[in-house]
Amino acid sequence: MPAVLLLGASSDMATAIARKFAQDKYDIILAGRNVQQLSEFKTDLEIRYNVKAEAVKFDALDYASHPSFYNNLPFHPDITICIFGYLGDQQKAVTDWNEAENIIQSNFTGAVSILNIVAEDYKQKKSGIIAGISSVAGERGRQSNYMYGSAKAGFTAYLSGLRNSLSKYGVHVITVLPGFVYTKMTADLTLPPSLTATPEQVASAVKKAVHKKQNVIYVKWMWRWIMFTIKSIPEGVFKKLKL
Ligand SMILES: NC(=O)c1ccc[n+]([C@@H]2O[C@H](COP(=O)([O-])OP(=O)(O)OC[C@H]3O[C@@H](n4cnc5c(N)ncnc54)[C@H](OP(=O)(O)O)[C@@H]3O)[C@@H](O)[C@H]2O)c1
Repeated sequence: MPAVLLLGASSDMATAIARKFAQDKYDIILAGRNVQQLSEFKTDLEIRYNVKAEAVKFDALDYASHPSFYNNLPFHPDITICIFGYLGDQQKAVTDWNEAENIIQSNFTGAVSILNIVAEDYKQKKSGIIAGISSVAGERGRQSNYMYGSAKAGFTAYLSGLRNSLSKYGVHVITVLPGFVYTKMTADLTLPPSLTATPEQVASAVKKAVHKKQNVIYVKWMWRWIMFTIKSIPEGVFKKLKL
C-alpha cells in the first residue's frame, strides 16, 4: 500500500489527516517529538483501520538528525506532509530573540532542512508527493503577526520553488494555506465560525489535493478572495491599517 509520512504528527491537523488517509488504507508513519503519545495513536490507527503504522521520533529543530531520521524510516513514504509549526508570541518576539528564532526555525528553517532531504530522494526515485501546511499569514506581513507570517511566507516561497524544480521529475508539491483552524494552536483565540475550518476539513482538502494533484489550496474558498483583497491594498494605505 502507499504510505504517508506526517511530520509534526501530534498536531490536531495531523491527527485528522492520518485518520483520513488510513481510512483509504494508506500506511502511516507518525513523526514527532512525543513518541509515547504517538505510539498510542499508532495502535489506534492499526486497530481501527487495519493499516501498517509506525511512530518515530522527529524534532524539526534538530537539523543534524534529519538525514539519519529519513534514511532509517521503517518504510518508504510515497507522500510526505509537513505539518509542524509554532505560532509564538508576536509581542514577545519583537524584543526576545529566542522567541523570534523559535518561530522562524519551527515554521521555516526546520521545514527546509527535512524537506531538502525528502525532495532529493523523491527526485532520484522520480516519484512522490510533498505537501506543506503553510498559512494565509504568509501572504502579507501584518503588525499583529509578522514574525509567524514572515516565516510562513518563506515556507510558501520554498514550496513554490520546490514545485517548480521537481515537476520535471514527476514529483508533485502542494502548498496548503489554511485561514483559521480550530486546533490547540488557536484554542485561546476567538475565531469567526464562518471563516474557521475544522481539522477534518483541512484533512479532506489535503486528501483531495493529493488525489487531484492540486498546487495551492486555501481549505475554505473565501480565504482566496480575502487574501486577494488584502494583497491588493496599496502599501501607502496598508501601512496605516491596524491589522
Ligand atoms: N490553527 C490554525 O489556525 C492554523 C492556520 C494556518 C496554518 N496553521 C499551521 O498548521 C500547522 C498545524 O498546526 P495546528 O493548528 O494543528 O497546531 P498544533 O496542534 O499546535 O500543532 C503544532 C504541531 O507542531 C509540532 N511542533 C512544533 N515544533 C516542533 C518541532 N521542533 N519538532 C517537531 N514538531 C514540532 C507540535 O508538536 P508537539 O506536540 O511536540 O508540541 C505540534 O504537533 C502548523 O504549521 C500551523 O502553523 C495553523
